[in-house]
Amino acid sequence: MVSNIISSRMTVLTWMDLFLRPFLRPSLRPGLRFASGLFMVVSLPAAALAQDASGAAEEPEPRWSIAIHGGAGTLDPDRMTPERRAAYEAALQEALDAGSAILANGGSAMEAVQAAILPMEDNPLFNAGRGAVFTWEGRNELDASIMDGRDRSAGAVTGVTTVRNPILLADRVRTDSPHVFLMGEGAEEFAGEQGFEVTPPEWFATQRRLESLERMRERNLSALDVDHKFGTVGAVALDQDGNLAAGTSTGGMTGKRWGRIGDAPVIGAGTYADNRSCAVSATGWGEYFIRVGVAQEICTRLRYQFRVEALEAQLSVPHDENGPTYIVHASELAMGADIFQEVADDVMAEVKELGGDGGVILVTPEGHAIFSFNTTGMYRGRATSEGVNEVAIFAEE
Ligand code: GLY
Repeated sequence: MVSNIISSRMTVLTWMDLFLRPFLRPSLRPGLRFASGLFMVVSLPAAALAQDASGAAEEPEPRWSIAIHGGAGTLDPDRMTPERRAAYEAALQEALDAGSAILANGGSAMEAVQAAILPMEDNPLFNAGRGAVFTWEGRNELDASIMDGRDRSAGAVTGVTTVRNPILLADRVRTDSPHVFLMGEGAEEFAGEQGFEVTPPEWFATQRRLESLERMRERNLSALDVDHKFGTVGAVALDQDGNLAAGTSTGGMTGKRWGRIGDAPVIGAGTYADNRSCAVSATGWGEYFIRVGVAQEICTRLRYQFRVEALEAQLSVPHDENGPTYIVHASELAMGADIFQEVADDVMAEVKELGGDGGVILVTPEGHAIFSFNTTGMYRGRATSEGVNEVAIFAEE
């Protein structure tokens, strides 16, 4: 539905680019180019420019924002003990606090994303790092990816078995290798060269996950039958400089075999960040997220949505015989959270239509921290410089 609206409105944008610009006063043309190109919308500092009564620009308030997830799935409130719920909430809060502290102190979105993911990778409650699910052969094979919205640099690893925190290795691939995506033994060889310690397999293995694998093997069940949820972890952040970042880490699906790789380490599927649109981390049934290209699909739709908003704003100003009397500045175009929510929901609806389930978290250049999921719950949290600080589990919360 939204894509139809966007494409029909894009026709108007093309019309505007082709026909309206030549009729503008020369002094206004750069402004229109700027408004219709809209690259400036997201390269502005995160804080919106405010105007005082005299019209002078005030110092912008520094703004930051973070969202995290610890997996989505079929979560039943009646089967969740108060102790278990408290343990999950405490773990989510710890991750949220770690990322928020960095952002509040002026640290970068990239640092915040890693700081939030590290405690979840070390916590056996989540399917990432310690507590990862087992492969059919009884191993813990870990995937992770990270992306910097400033320059769209990215790093990813898959099938790693000896690196305690795969998110750190993914970032090292980004910063210290000429590549984006490393697998298995090669990724571990790179980790060794980079000074990462070898972590023994016992660190990752937990009884609970082993039992899931055994049930699956004995009763010929699917991964969904034994897990009911995807415990992938992820974080997205906006820092005070207006930069976005996203990261995701997972053990994949119980009983995965034949070198199966899910969406979490696939840039564009499980993770994407682009300062021009948003930062996304996904959790869910990886095959469907890869097919839809969920993370990049959301970012791409939003980039076009920015253009539509700019066009509508520009067309709405009074015109005289020389064209528009006023050029809308990109800083006036901050979009409401509802637009981002709608785009994320539309893409998640596509995942559902194909038969997949799961969820996404996203953070936008304006500082909106948004969740969208088509499951009964998603372990999640968000915090912003505006005072939001919350963790939640079930859909109705
Ligand atoms: N979303 C995690 C996976 O499918 O592996």
